[in-house]
Amino acid sequence: MESILITGGAGFIGQNLVHAWRAARPTDRLVVLDAMAYAANIRSLQPLIADRSIVFVKGDVRDAALIRSLFEEHNPTRVAHLAAESHVDRSIVDPEAFLQTNVLGTFTLLNTALDAWRSAGALGHARFLHVSTDEVYGSLGPADPPFSESSPYRPNSPYAASKAASDHLVRAYVTTYGMPALITNCSNNYGPYQHPEKLIPLMIIHALEGKPLPVYGDGSNIRDWLHVSDHCDALLAVLARGRIGETYNVGGGNERNNRDVVGLICDTLDRAFARDTRLAARFPSCPAATGGSCRSLISYVTDRPGHDHRYAIDSTKLAGELGNRPGIDFEHGLEPTVQWYLDHESWWRDVTSGAYKAWIDKNYGFRIAV
Ligand code: NAD
Ligand code: DAU
Repeated sequence: MESILITGGAGFIGQNLVHAWRAARPTDRLVVLDAMAYAANIRSLQPLIADRSIVFVKGDVRDAALIRSLFEEHNPTRVAHLAAESHVDRSIVDPEAFLQTNVLGTFTLLNTALDAWRSAGALGHARFLHVSTDEVYGSLGPADPPFSESSPYRPNSPYAASKAASDHLVRAYVTTYGMPALITNCSNNYGPYQHPEKLIPLMIIHALEGKPLPVYGDGSNIRDWLHVSDHCDALLAVLARGRIGETYNVGGGNERNNRDVVGLICDTLDRAFARDTRLAARFPSCPAATGGSCRSLISYVTDRPGHDHRYAIDSTKLAGELGNRPGIDFEHGLEPTVQWYLDHESWWRDVTSGAYKAWIDKNYGFRIAV
């Protein structure tokens, strides 16, 4: 039995990781720390909290005293650090929060974990996994090879720059202090519990509500999509068997441009409405409710400033060293993801009420059709 600290465990990937961890290693003690910022939701964790399968702590990764007390009480020898501000558009509107959590938060957690493990003589068998992003590598041209672990860092958004800074800190702690840390740089995730500000859930929910589907620019930007369950499998593998001090890139091998992704979402919804006639009564504003296509809602709008053109990941190292490969191709992962949002209307209605509406006005109010 081991004791694990997962930060950001009430976010999209964090919740999926908590469930994946519980399933894979049911006897471990899981301590979940999350500040419960706007993207957090503990609904799916509540049964685990209630039956004491996990310990949930509401708190900030910048709070050194709190982190110290968690190490004293639970002695975690594994840390999976996911807590972050994660949305590129928000980082453009309000970068400071990104520096606070992604840079200072990572620094505080690293420093406190190092002290705790040193004092306990645990450095030799502890592991700190820093969960990062492919965005630190910048943007690829159409013919460039995918990002590898030796690609130079060229972050373009405040979000990417803050994650890059945190990666550099982790690396410096490994080299300078012997911190037993590893880094993963992963491509775009999708799947259950993703906050509706991100492309895939945003498009599903807008289509269901008959709202325009705001594709930035000409929609030619490319992302490498990875199902969140494949990401969680990779994180478990790296934490268990990765080499200390190493970086592992994690990708889906599913490069798609945004036009095609949004088109696929529309087609998937159209088919769902044709299959299940009850959906028309639940979502009467959706064009598919009256036999039309969700594609009629697609609207090209003002681009994201500094919009990275293409991300693609070379996961050869992860596959070669740890035998980890993604199992879900994009078309097979998208269908159940769309179905998950159809089946969890109350979840996204909760998430999209209140402050979320103000964000939508702020981010989309100024964008004009192009
Ligand atoms: P998310 O925004 O859904 O979740 C982030 C979680 O961190 C939230 O629950 C939030 O409450 C928590 N948090 C924020 N500030 C905090 C603070 N100061 N202290 C404690 N908790 C705090 O993000 P996600 O998509 O689940 O991403 C998780 C991690 O994975 C991030 O580090 C992100 O950079 C990285 N990542 C995400 C993707 C992706 O496609 N979503 C891809 C690669 C890497
Ligand atoms: O690559 C990994 C990263 O993927 C993670 O590190 C980030 O945390 C995660 O948010 C994601 O970043 P992106 O900026 O790629 O994801 P997002 O869902 O915001 O956008 C995906 C693409 O869709 C991007 O090219 C911008 C575009 N887009 C997005 C939104 C929200 C639109 O065209 N319209 C939109 O309304």
